[in-house]
Amino acid sequence: MTNYKTHYDESITDPEKFWMEQAKAINWYEPPKQGLSKDEKGFSRWFNGGKLNTCYLAVDQHVENGRGDQTAIIYESPVTYVSQLYSYRELQFETARLAGLLRAQGVEKGDRVIIYMPMIPQVVFAMLACARLGAVHSVVFGGFAAQELAVRIDDAKPKVLLTASAGVEVTRIIKYKPLVDEALELADYKVNKVIVWQRPFVKAGMKEGRDLDWASLLEKAEPCDCVVLDATDPLYILYTSGTTGTPKGILRDNGGHAVALKYSMNHVYNVEPGETYWSASDVGWIVGHSYIVYAPLMHGCTTVLFEGKPVKTPDAGIFWRIIEQYKVDVMFTAPTAFRAIIKEDPKGKLHQRYDTSSLRNVFLAGERCDVATYEWLDTLLDVDVIDNWWQSESGWPMICNSLGYGMKPLKPGSATFPVCGFDIRIMDANGQEQPANEEGAVVIKLPLPPGCFPTLWNDDERFINSYFSTFEGFYLAGDGGYKDEDGYIFITGRTDDVINVSGHRLSTSTIEEVVAAHEAVAECAVIGIADELKGQIPVGFVVLKAGIGIPEDKLEAELIKTVRLQVGPVAGFKRAAVVKRLPKTRSGKILRATMRSIADGKAYTQPSTIEDPAVLDELKELMSEQEIGIAFSDDSSAS
Ligand code: COA
Ligand code: AMP
Repeated sequence: MTNYKTHYDESITDPEKFWMEQAKAINWYEPPKQGLSKDEKGFSRWFNGGKLNTCYLAVDQHVENGRGDQTAIIYESPVTYVSQLYSYRELQFETARLAGLLRAQGVEKGDRVIIYMPMIPQVVFAMLACARLGAVHSVVFGGFAAQELAVRIDDAKPKVLLTASAGVEVTRIIKYKPLVDEALELADYKVNKVIVWQRPFVKAGMKEGRDLDWASLLEKAEPCDCVVLDATDPLYILYTSGTTGTPKGILRDNGGHAVALKYSMNHVYNVEPGETYWSASDVGWIVGHSYIVYAPLMHGCTTVLFEGKPVKTPDAGIFWRIIEQYKVDVMFTAPTAFRAIIKEDPKGKLHQRYDTSSLRNVFLAGERCDVATYEWLDTLLDVDVIDNWWQSESGWPMICNSLGYGMKPLKPGSATFPVCGFDIRIMDANGQEQPANEEGAVVIKLPLPPGCFPTLWNDDERFINSYFSTFEGFYLAGDGGYKDEDGYIFITGRTDDVINVSGHRLSTSTIEEVVAAHEAVAECAVIGIADELKGQIPVGFVVLKAGIGIPEDKLEAELIKTVRLQVGPVAGFKRAAVVKRLPKTRSGKILRATMRSIADGKAYTQPSTIEDPAVLDELKELMSEQEIGIAFSDDSSAS
């Protein structure tokens, strides 16, 4: 195997040559003749002219090549007491028929399909069936409320919406269909067809003329073959949070995505076809798209689809039980999942009940891997724990100890070095590269490698403005960080109003809009503050309108309820405090970063433009009184 440095240097000095070589690992219908090109908008595209089908790569090719009887999907659902295995042959059968069903309902190449479903096998069949047809899926995470689903419906304009009657959150049944009905009422765009998978424990009400029963349609469906697609054809849209209340539709193409994910399975995760790869995330997030569904399947692995939580389903030993039962080779999740386990089982006693010797590595991503969690895991397990940094925008890791090239020494707190293709720099505000150990903006020199988003759905302007207009020739990641003297990169957190709650990326602006709309609220700021369990939690600070005499606890309860109803339970919005005034600059900008530093107990420099420095002392006093923030709380995880 080539060493990391040689490959990395090649990938930066001659990216086209490097990625054209990697593209040979894909079973194209017609291989591409060029690596990088510009499209009609002037945006960079990979492998234009190459022909392929992602569903063929994830399913059919394995049946043709002798993996038909290998388990493709292990569905493990402790919340419904169901375990099911699907072989690649069965996956092909299910996917081809579902594609036939969708085609019979008028879905063709380029049409959008919204998928709002829990973690059941049908959600994977649905994604793959869309890929098979060349339809563009957009999976919306089940923890988002109807309003958020409506926003995505209006933006994606789907021909069909796929859903299930219900999901299960630990022991609570969450009915999905009423949320879909409400979203369709709220949306301006009219969706004519809703296809519903009825789960045995909840039967969803159906609206005649619009709602169709998935299982009955499937009985009559004819299997459908894979459609030949261009490498640059879109595969999916995944909405993610930006700095405004409107989500960004990350677009993913077929060709670059396939090449990047295939490369990552070999070179980053060091996984062989036939091995069992378990990503304990949700298909509603990028980790789920890439490493529950597409990468493991395209690589011919067995993937685990887990409908449960790291704790309480039934206990904090569930991860270890699944690893033992299915002989999981490699596992991937967010650090917050292990923090939840640590809280319930600090000494890792439940781990002793299981044989986890099949496990080779644990990969962590989705949020900063705190050193305490890393050390707990490293001590408990006899395997290397590997941090990897990436985003919905990249679709695959950008910084990681690429294990396919051999393991490099770890430094806790750092995801180590850039993955091949990513020329990562740290910049100061003037676009000058920072010296070692100086913090700055994390940027990536263009071109971005295959797999990264070619644009935002319906919003080329925002694509340019958000990511490429700050430093010419560089992608702005939105994270801060530094490189140490050995070139290890440390990510220190978002530099914008995006927050990370239990590994879920959220925008404080979305929550702020809901809080600000309350009739008693004159103005407000929602900030993400540090939390020992969830990484960050959103907290609202509100100024009341003059003459409003609402009790604070009543207002807080109302705000919590409204955010839950309008953004979704996933926002984890559980604290709102009334303040007399908010700290602002003389030009009226709220000093959110300073507020965050106070709550997190971090040093800050009082901005010279502050309107009235006394507000910061008032705020500190209030946080201390109400135990808001890690700096003031006895037990922040309980907040
Ligand atoms: N449908 C409906 N509701 C959902 C939901 C879904 N798909 N997913 C989450 N929710 C609800 C939860 O029930 C919870 O509701 P509550 O406030 O009534 O308790 C709320 O949204 C917040 O959920 P979550 O952030 O998941 O918190 P949690 O306390 O239920 O669990 C963890 C915390 C750490 C155990 C869990 O978030 C987890 O396993 N995360 C790690 C892995 C991961 O998925 N990362 C994503 C990117 S890699
Ligand atoms: P998402 O697009 O949902 O994957 O969220 C991406 C954001 O999560 C990044 O911009 C980071 O802020 C954060 N993130 C993801 N992985 C890591 C990591 N390994 N270390 C630190 N932050 C991370």
